Amino acid sequence: LSPRVIGVALLGVGVVGSGVAEALAQRAGELAERTGARLALRHALVRDLQRPRPFVPPAICTDRIEPVLADPEVAIVIEVLGGEQPAADYIRRALEAGKHVVTANKEVIAKFGPELLAVAQERGVSLLFEAAVGGGVPLIMPLRRALIANRLSSLEGIINGTTNYILTAMAQQGLAFTTALAQAQSLGYAEPDPTNDIEAHDAAYKLAILASLAFHATVRPEQVYREGITRLTDRDFRYARELGYAIKLLAIAKDDGEAIEARVHPTLLPEQQVLAKVDGVFNAVQIDGDLVGRLLFYGRGAGARPTTSAILGDVLEIAAAIALGQPPRTGNGLRSNRPIRPIEAIQTRYYVRLTVADQPGVFARIAQVFADHAISISSVIQKESDEDARSAEIVIMTHRSREAGVRAALASIAELPVVFEVGNWIRVESA
Ligand SMILES: NC(=O)c1ccc[n+]([C@@H]2O[C@H](COP(=O)([O-])OP(=O)(O)OC[C@H]3O[C@@H](n4cnc5c(N)ncnc54)[C@H](OP(=O)(O)O)[C@@H]3O)[C@@H](O)[C@H]2O)c1
Repeated sequence: LSPRVIGVALLGVGVVGSGVAEALAQRAGELAERTGARLALRHALVRDLQRPRPFVPPAICTDRIEPVLADPEVAIVIEVLGGEQPAADYIRRALEAGKHVVTANKEVIAKFGPELLAVAQERGVSLLFEAAVGGGVPLIMPLRRALIANRLSSLEGIINGTTNYILTAMAQQGLAFTTALAQAQSLGYAEPDPTNDIEAHDAAYKLAILASLAFHATVRPEQVYREGITRLTDRDFRYARELGYAIKLLAIAKDDGEAIEARVHPTLLPEQQVLAKVDGVFNAVQIDGDLVGRLLFYGRGAGARPTTSAILGDVLEIAAAIALGQPPRTGNGLRSNRPIRPIEAIQTRYYVRLTVADQPGVFARIAQVFADHAISISSVIQKESDEDARSAEIVIMTHRSREAGVRAALASIAELPVVFEVGNWIRVESA
């Protein structure tokens, strides 16, 4: 029996699209054996028609979406353009045209996932997006299938390789933020405009997707509390290490049954914790479920080949279903609306770095302000003093406290005449 031929269109032939085109060309036979379907690349949408693209014959390149959508032989559309528009529009139109869609686009899925899944369901086609979070690391499929019987209480992870590369360079080489960023850019790990990564937009999109799936709720990207890594200094890394902590841009989602927490921010993690040891461009996500216990997913969160692995996993799942004449999995667009806890209402521990006057009685005044806001201090260390400026730096670790209280206390502390500067304050996770 000769395998059935299934037409595929590729929207975008950049870093990821080139990887997909190469794998489709180079392992066509193997893939056909595994799924019973031979994938035929029929169109490749690009901006620049002049640029040569290995593994994509010029004859199938186009800069218009219409011929792709009008081709009845195209059953699966792979969207790897990136950005919100026109990607979101093309995905919607492909679904409306009755085509299955596989995308790596975290921004579109985070912003429009529920609506697009509803369109897919209505048209009886699949919309799959394993590559949108964690690159090659399978996260979406486990959340949707293997872990579905669990009540998940927490999902924490490092889901942006660019920032993890920068933070690792700051921690291990003692680099300043701007130097570490320049290094990441020169190696191709950070974009020329790095805003999306360093301000944690990318991680917030991914966390919105993961939290929505983990807690069967709609978590929109604007509901994710977001803080980037630009305020971290080499001092914070030095002090954190002396105290036994690493600093990571952690994406945190929790569900205590009452409300969902979803936040991405720099976080102090005890050095012995697994996530504290995830370095460089690697991603890792730790999930706690009531039946399964704790799970750890670890691997390459970006790059052409790992992302291709995730995309083709989705494509082949659809192709296999088509080859068997089975109805495809459409994914469930129906979600409950659950309250999202505002950042002021979370409770965690805090690291606070202050520059203060180098004179007796200063710490007592600061401690009093914390006490007035019901915040108890677990440790204080005095770091270097600057004799010329007659100042000293102190680092305070609090016990678990409510964030609203910590913010109010820091606002009052900043007003004290003996306090020159609130250098930084960083949340601490220890579970
Ligand atoms: N890079 C990674 O490691 C990675 C990992 C996971 C997920 N992703 C996601 O995968 C997607 C693609 O990323 P990428 O790194 O491959 O991007 P990229 O290298 O910038 O490639 C984008 C491709 O889309 C084409 N394109 C963009 N806008 C277009 C338009 N309006 N009309 C026609 N063609 C257009 C470009 O055409 P030209 O070639 O003519 O410019 C290019 O071929 C993004 O959603 C990204 O978030 C990437």
